[in-house]
Amino acid sequence: MKLTRRSFIKKFLVSGLGLLGLSGGSYYYARHIEPHMLDRKEYTISHSNIPRSFNNFKIVQFSDTHIGFNYDLTEFEQLIDTINAENADLIVFTGDLVDKPHTYRFDQRIPQLLRRLKTRYGKYWIYGNHDHGGYGTETVKAVMEDGGFQLLQNSVSMVDNGQDTFALAGLDDVMLGSPNISATTAQIKGDPFTMLLVHEPDVADQMQQHGIDIQLSGHSHGGQIQLPFVGALVTPPYAETYIEGKYTISELLTLYVSRGIGTTRLPYRFMCRPEYSVFHLQAKL
Ligand SMILES: [Fe+2]
Repeated sequence: MKLTRRSFIKKFLVSGLGLLGLSGGSYYYARHIEPHMLDRKEYTISHSNIPRSFNNFKIVQFSDTHIGFNYDLTEFEQLIDTINAENADLIVFTGDLVDKPHTYRFDQRIPQLLRRLKTRYGKYWIYGNHDHGGYGTETVKAVMEDGGFQLLQNSVSMVDNGQDTFALAGLDDVMLGSPNISATTAQIKGDPFTMLLVHEPDVADQMQQHGIDIQLSGHSHGGQIQLPFVGALVTPPYAETYIEGKYTISELLTLYVSRGIGTTRLPYRFMCRPEYSVFHLQAKL
């Protein structure tokens, strides 16, 4: 059928409007829907260094809440309740509590919510770049401490179940802190199963030869916006190689990167839902 000039223009306009509508719908979805669609990731870490007495030990990781930027305390409270329902043995937070510590109006509410989190073996956290940024170093530290979280800043805590132990190490933030991996691992006696928390995932390439079995990171936000067949469009420095999920770095080291909870810079998530992670330890025979 031959198109008249008029029908061609009409068709062109209709399809143009359709595209506009679609992009408008996608915009609404990425701005208002997906950032609030919390996902739950579940992994089993099976490793020969894990003592059998730690079988089924459950660790929950959450990361990059960026409170104050498209993420408020009502949603944070829902997250706290969701994590509490996991009945975790250990909870770790891998940095970036609020988006801008220098403008955020801190009060008692964040520590109160953090204190609600219950575990059998404690709650630990490490600095992210946003925690150090905006002169947040001391403020965020005080808030996390008040919330019952122990800071791992180039330090190690031995998790002890009365029978066996494993090492939980944490590095200072790589971008704005003073990370020191050899000074950190020097504190570990013997060769226990060792889990390292460090905000930026890409340093995994430098973590071999340090006796670390597992690295948990955040920081990438998964890129926040992904496209089919393309993946993440943009990721921050130190999250350019490792963006989300599980990576076998070497025979000795496995990395898990969380897409995190909140957003920064742009309040969007597309094909990149917010998530928290659940890890089950399992001795490999
Ligand atoms: Fe972040």
